[in-house]
Amino acid sequence: MKKLIAGNWKMNGIQASLEEVARLVIGLDGGAASDRDLLICPPATLLAKMAEEFSDVIFVGGQNCHERESGAHTGDVSAEMLADAGASYVIVGHSERRADHHEVDSDVKAKAMAARRAGLTPIVCVGESEAQRGEGEALNVVGAQLSGSLPEEEGELVIAYEPVWAIGTGLTPTLGDIAEMHGFIRDRVGSGVRILYGGSVKPGNAHDILAIKDVNGALVGGASLKASDFLSIVSAG
Ligand code: PGA
Repeated sequence: MKKLIAGNWKMNGIQASLEEVARLVIGLDGGAASDRDLLICPPATLLAKMAEEFSDVIFVGGQNCHERESGAHTGDVSAEMLADAGASYVIVGHSERRADHHEVDSDVKAKAMAARRAGLTPIVCVGESEAQRGEGEALNVVGAQLSGSLPEEEGELVIAYEPVWAIGTGLTPTLGDIAEMHGFIRDRVGSGVRILYGGSVKPGNAHDILAIKDVNGALVGGASLKASDFLSIVSAG
């Protein structure tokens, strides 16, 4: 299965930041991207321009979408709009969306279905909190999130396992814990779905994480903002 290395820029990036993508593309030098898919999910304001300039080398994606196609939803962006701007993927249910915008599993499911309706591949994020892991509930929590967040119909799908406590903290689960969770998710979703690990993936740990069975790529936040760091991760493993 071809690995997917995805960068999540979050609320970072202005027009000048597209130079980082240009540096990344130069660094790839026609290689690296052939045996893996590269994706950057910039803020919505940069999506069309990034797709226009770089979609021959990388995929671009959204960080969220509304479940409806259009309508009176001030400030929201639909999956169809993302597709029209050149997106191929959209992240749904990121823990920051779940926390900041009170998104629950049923919202995430509706967004994932909207993504497919628009021809995008949804990247559905799941992951336990620190307390839940401490209580030995990580598998149960992720299992419940999968049950509630995934569309019932067959179709294109990527899962991102992102323990909330590992995002932006420099902490990661043990390789054994990542392997256990990815094996658990694999049993639930079958062999055709790429399962990404996310949460403090850096140049220094990417090789070991990407070598784990059932880790089919990475969702990278902070380290995706600098071309040199992202390039090391893309080239790892
Ligand atoms: P991080 O973020 O790599 O900065 O921990 C990952 C994510 O939130 O997708």
